[in-house]
Amino acid sequence: MNNREQWGSRIGFILAASGSAVGLGNIWKYPHMAGENGGAAFTVIYLICILIVGLPIVIAEFVIGRKTQLSPVGAFKALAPNTNWKFVGVLGVCAAFVILSFYGVVGGWTLRYTMLSLFGGFVKFSGNPELAGGQFKSFISNPINPVFWQIIFMTLTTMVIVKGVKGGIEKWAKIMMPAILVILGVLMFRGLTLPNGTKALEFLFLPKFEDLTASSIVLALGHAFFTLSLGMGTMITYGSYLSRDQNLLTSALWVILLDTVIAIMAGVAIFATVFALGANPDSGPGLIFVALPTIFPQIAGGTLWGALFFFLLFMAALTSAISILEVITAYFIDEKDWSREKATVTFGSFVTIVGIFCSMSMGGFNDFNTIFNISFFDFLDYLSSKYMLPIGGMLTALFILMKWGVDDFIRELVTGMENKNIDPFVVKVLFIISALVVGFIISNEIIAIITGNPIVG
Ligand code: TRP
Repeated sequence: MNNREQWGSRIGFILAASGSAVGLGNIWKYPHMAGENGGAAFTVIYLICILIVGLPIVIAEFVIGRKTQLSPVGAFKALAPNTNWKFVGVLGVCAAFVILSFYGVVGGWTLRYTMLSLFGGFVKFSGNPELAGGQFKSFISNPINPVFWQIIFMTLTTMVIVKGVKGGIEKWAKIMMPAILVILGVLMFRGLTLPNGTKALEFLFLPKFEDLTASSIVLALGHAFFTLSLGMGTMITYGSYLSRDQNLLTSALWVILLDTVIAIMAGVAIFATVFALGANPDSGPGLIFVALPTIFPQIAGGTLWGALFFFLLFMAALTSAISILEVITAYFIDEKDWSREKATVTFGSFVTIVGIFCSMSMGGFNDFNTIFNISFFDFLDYLSSKYMLPIGGMLTALFILMKWGVDDFIRELVTGMENKNIDPFVVKVLFIISALVVGFIISNEIIAIITGNPIVG
């Protein structure tokens, strides 16, 4: 396709791809998972997973996208015509619908908490986690209030994607990614200069391996996937807007570096604040929406720090949400010949409506919860992060090993690289390890569901 849009610059592509990677996973999930799983020991395992499993699959997705210049379904069709491999792409598009439905809800929460802090709403939470927790619960289970913020968040997401690759995604990534780094740098400095703040460094960087359990290893692996936006063709789609002159290996390393650095900076900023005020590092998913609002009012300028923190979280969520909507949009443009406007507006609205049910499932809308014993929100979260993404990632690795072939893969990979000596054996081993590791996580989950006891965890 000759009129396909392209990224305007290499840095634009790297920022867009890392914008996709950097999201709620880095700033909300990683810190609370590290907090609950032994701090530094978890971080070490997470870094190993990122390098061994994450890096090969990021590269695989970039290479498939650039080679075919198509979004996932078309890409698998082009490389393996008349086979079932196209269903890996279809699975990805379905995962995009599922993830964006609940991601948009949490995106709305970040906007609401930015406003709440800005207008002094955290002051009464000072040192009172019960009150902060109660308010958070009553906010997310309100049938109207969170939906209002979710609609704003989804409208912003749709507005960026309507503008296309260069004028929308790239332009906003170039503004928001540097802003995220600067704000996080400031928050980290603020945290570390609080009394006891440097305890955070010890907590995150001095591993005590006795704290590590088998289940935290499985968690770290799963998270490596989610945080790098792997397994549903996001990186295939972003790679499809590249021309052939780029070194994909160094681009992938940049994306991974930025993603990891931002997760760790968020961890330092959050734990420094937590330790300075003697709060608990292992308060779980509520760490951000419950523990932090009780802490901010106790530090000088807390209203502003709180608002900055939640605005940062909002920007990180937005650059990720746009990458998810782009997967859906690109599918309808490439495969169904829709216009960008029509695809974006149709599916932006559709996902918003499904998201409303998700938001309502936190309290307002209970039928699903009683039938399946899990809220619709949690159901979509588990379905995507425990099954759809890992399965998609594993199949991508298997696709290269079994169908496309490592040699053809390497031929495309080295296009744009100066050093063209890549050992096919190493590449094979890496993909086999990724596929096995991910296959193990999925089987573990399935065994846990069937027998009630996972092998590990
Ligand atoms: N990586 C993002 C985060 O850390 C979330 C995300 C965006 C994502 N696009 C994705 C996850 C695609 C899986 C697949 O929050």
